[in-house]
Amino acid sequence: MGRYIGAIDQGTTSSRFIIFDKGGRVVSVAQKEHEQIFPKAGWVEHDPQEIWQKVRAVIGEAMAAKDLKPSDLAAVGITNQRETTLVWNRKTGEPVYNAIVWQDTRIAPMVAEFAAQGGQDRYRAITGLPLTTYFSGLKLRWILQNVEGARAAAEAGELVFGTIDSFLIWHLTGGVDGGHNVIDVTNASRTQLMDLEKLAWDGDILADFDIPASMLPEIVPSSAVYGEATPNAIRGVPVAGDLGDQQAALFGQACFEPGDAKNTYGTGSFMLLNTGTEPVSSKSGLLTTLGYKIGDAPAVYALEGSIAITGALVQWLRDNLGLFQSSEDIEPLARSVEDNGGTYFVPAFSGLYAPYWRDNARGVIAGLTRFVNKGHIARAALEATAFQVREVVEAMEADSGIALADLRVDGGMVVNELLMQFQADILGKPVVRPVVRETTALGAAYAAGLAVGFFASTDVLVANWAEDRRWSPEMEEDRRSELYRMWKRAVTRTFDWID
Ligand code: G3P
Repeated sequence: MGRYIGAIDQGTTSSRFIIFDKGGRVVSVAQKEHEQIFPKAGWVEHDPQEIWQKVRAVIGEAMAAKDLKPSDLAAVGITNQRETTLVWNRKTGEPVYNAIVWQDTRIAPMVAEFAAQGGQDRYRAITGLPLTTYFSGLKLRWILQNVEGARAAAEAGELVFGTIDSFLIWHLTGGVDGGHNVIDVTNASRTQLMDLEKLAWDGDILADFDIPASMLPEIVPSSAVYGEATPNAIRGVPVAGDLGDQQAALFGQACFEPGDAKNTYGTGSFMLLNTGTEPVSSKSGLLTTLGYKIGDAPAVYALEGSIAITGALVQWLRDNLGLFQSSEDIEPLARSVEDNGGTYFVPAFSGLYAPYWRDNARGVIAGLTRFVNKGHIARAALEATAFQVREVVEAMEADSGIALADLRVDGGMVVNELLMQFQADILGKPVVRPVVRETTALGAAYAAGLAVGFFASTDVLVANWAEDRRWSPEMEEDRRSELYRMWKRAVTRTFDWID
């Protein structure tokens, strides 16, 4: 068996291939960004062929950088941006349309139509999810209704649906020459088409959404062998792990016990709490979702607080406003002022996700005066992340009855010391960062490694986890409450912006 495990991490803004050793340490890494396509306000697309080409390129690069052969890898795992929706032709491999990205809000009218006939929560009991623009099922319906010829071709059995993991596994395991069309339980739980308890597609919802069952992938465990890789750099290596990126981070942070939680700061931020082998329904605006399923063992569920825009706000200040040149420059800019100067930035760019689920909210900067400068805006943008995370933590505690002792964090933004300290301050709880911050890719590598016996059990993975840094709250309670009160006020200013 090979000495290492490879993980493809196909995220919202870039694709990476990371190779890990048994201790969970990074051996080699390659990364490439892909184009963000914004055809109209509120629409976000990716070119699937570009993604597949970049995934192949990063695999080749990371392998070549350390002169590795396929036999050096025991398995390859996949983790992906979730909910992003794809339809392609099973004979030609051609996508019928760009991938519709999870943040895209084009289906808002369709969501409203379905919600009008039974409420926003009409599918919650079966799927764990409210009706919003976020999930794949109605995006798929949009493609079938709006792409010429798509419905007829789907009904003729020519088209397949998948999330990004399905698309990559299909290509990796042979594509038009016998590629496997699968989706793991975590990704399937984000389609709003799967029965959470049965782990099977729900016939009634498929009928409501008018989706032919023949185009759906097979639902598989998150840790299992799906096939063998065909690209030259990794030819013959078992493709053996598949988790949505937030669930992969839960796995990579070794949150295997009920009550274990993590928060990942990426394009958006996503907090997941392991709730064990029974789904827990939410009364506080969280999602009930799959955590993972290892082979034949019972599935493990999670509660999730999803925030659409956190790191993406930093990118927006960089790319759309030109406020600084590179993302890390936000920290010195935010430190150039003492506080937010009374400014609150609510980035409801894709509506508001947890705990509000308001598709028709849009972003605001509130509290502007002539005193405010770009330092204050930068600070307000970072603080927005921390305030949103506090809202989700409160919902999590209300639903689970568990008071979190501290918050385990990971993702790109955890290098930002100002944000981490402010997060601890505004939560009134310590924030803890692990040594290996690549927890998303690590989780996919762990799932793949367990499937092929590279890792004997999850105990080994728990032993790999180590604390790197801890931030403790330093803010006075009065100030913490006042800042949060003003944040809540700013949030109400975003409501019902779109008719
Ligand atoms: O649900 C969307 C999420 O999976 C995207 O993750 O890391 O690309 O922001 P990320």
